[in-house]
Amino acid sequence: MNNYDSEHKSNIDFKIMAFFFKIRDFFKDPMKKIEKVDLQKGDYILEYGCGPGSYTIPIAEKIGPTGKVFAADIHPLASEKVKKRADKNDLSNIDTITTDCKVDLEKSSIDKVVLIDVLHGLENYESHLKEFYRVLKKDGRLWVDDHHFDEQQIKSRILSTDLFRYVGKVDSLYEFQKVSL
Ligand SMILES: C[S@@+](CC[C@H](N)C(=O)[O-])C[C@H]1O[C@@H](n2cnc3c(N)ncnc32)[C@H](O)[C@@H]1O
Repeated sequence: MNNYDSEHKSNIDFKIMAFFFKIRDFFKDPMKKIEKVDLQKGDYILEYGCGPGSYTIPIAEKIGPTGKVFAADIHPLASEKVKKRADKNDLSNIDTITTDCKVDLEKSSIDKVVLIDVLHGLENYESHLKEFYRVLKKDGRLWVDDHHFDEQQIKSRILSTDLFRYVGKVDSLYEFQKVSL
């Protein structure tokens, strides 16, 4: 069972969250955070726990039309909201996925996984980390930002599986690299 199980998070809850994120994004431009993530034109990105898509749009803009963002969330409304935002912004490089863990993506097909404000809510985070590891390319990166956790909590969760190594930190964003097993 997950903290964010859609049985517990109703549509109203999701809409309230989306409303508060609009206010958050008004005061803190999401692009400012995304500019700190090392994203390249043409990158394939899995943004896990995308919510209503505050960070999906800036990611899609940064990687350009030759790249792709797979925006995944457990809540079906996330996909609806992200699709609407993509249309409004005339972006065709975003696909949505509704899932609580597994993503229907090829092994070693993703350059970077981005996880913003999500890690604290993942009860079975080891399963998620295994899935991120599976889809990431060799040396692929996992970027994590979570204001609910301190540095020690973020690092201990990500490093507990021995699937990633710590690379460094840019402001509140932590960069990890997929290790070769
Ligand atoms: C606090 S919100 C953050 C949303 C977005 N990353 C942002 O910062 O604007 C956490 C999101 O993670 C999603 N989530 C939680 N558990 C999940 C899981 N097991 N699988 C996929 N998404 C999940 C929630 O539905 C929610 O949209």
